[in-house]
Amino acid sequence: MTESFEATKRRSDEIEADLVKNPTNYRVLTGERPTGHLHIGHYLGTLRNRVRLHRMGVPMFILSADYQVITDRDAPGPIRERVFSNIVDNIACGLDTEDVVFFAHSTVPELNQLLLPFLSLVTVPELQRNPTVKDEIAATQGRKVSGLLLTYPVHQAADILFCHANLVPAGRDQLPHLEVARLIARRFEERYGHGSGDGPIFVAPETLLSDAPLVLGLDGKKMAKSGANAIDIKMTADETAQALKKAVTDSDRRIVFDPDNRPEVSNLLLIAASCMNVDPRQVAEEVGDAGSGALKKIVIDAVNTELAPVRARRDELMKDPAEVSRILAKGGERAREIAQDTLDKVSDAIGMRY
Ligand code: TRP
Repeated sequence: MTESFEATKRRSDEIEADLVKNPTNYRVLTGERPTGHLHIGHYLGTLRNRVRLHRMGVPMFILSADYQVITDRDAPGPIRERVFSNIVDNIACGLDTEDVVFFAHSTVPELNQLLLPFLSLVTVPELQRNPTVKDEIAATQGRKVSGLLLTYPVHQAADILFCHANLVPAGRDQLPHLEVARLIARRFEERYGHGSGDGPIFVAPETLLSDAPLVLGLDGKKMAKSGANAIDIKMTADETAQALKKAVTDSDRRIVFDPDNRPEVSNLLLIAASCMNVDPRQVAEEVGDAGSGALKKIVIDAVNTELAPVRARRDELMKDPAEVSRILAKGGERAREIAQDTLDKVSDAIGMRY
């Protein structure tokens, strides 16, 4: 795992260098599972990076992975509200709705149809070995594993492969899923690619690893989507201040960046520093021995300053939900056109043409 992680990281760095020169050689697909509202961790870890790639001119698809919500729970929750909220956050951060294709799983039935031949290309033991799925099974605390929880990485492969995305910006937890997508692209070609003469239908996608540090929640645990320990993008400046004032710290008045021994304080330093694009140690020096109250003041200012323009655009967009519907309908149509074309090629390759 570690060695292959190193290899992925090296390859990701190479791609990063090439992106500046050849942005249109890439097609990015990424997205999220709409299980809650996006927070500052998403903003610093992924959304900001998407906007950077978009501004470089990299073509991009953003998916709201709504079918992935029901992998590990009975009810989808307020899913419409969450899909809208996530899409609006992406747009408010700076993704242009003319250029970027925004869509939800459920609007592209061809994805589900691709799932069947793709499922035939992986074995049950391979699915059961997926470390991210294993973690998710463990997190359900004894809930019986649904067929969808075991197989969603294959559905996720369809997300990436249907539109021939060759680059997926993702965190470490998504690496096993990307491996499934690469495996399926390869095996499909081995099994069905003979003699077509047109070259492979699917390209094996590569990973663009995020180098953004992992942000923790205000209680020092994992910052959760829809969690009480999060600073959501959609919060007001006041709500942000209230939440941050309650953040867990320690009683040492001297503020230093020491993630191992002082995780909560270091996490606040990291959030402020990332918003300000400086080193966390620099923020620590600024606070000196003024204590966690002074630190929190800096964090509140940094977060609210960074998010102010995003929040202003967000508020505008939320006034017009019909426009969000239109964006999703347009993106869904575009995704469907591509998916239909891919599915036609798949049916041809398998020989299912009557
Ligand atoms: N599994 C991803 C998550 O939990 C969401 C996702 C679905 C995704 N399909 C994808 C991410 C394709 C990248 C590419 O956040």
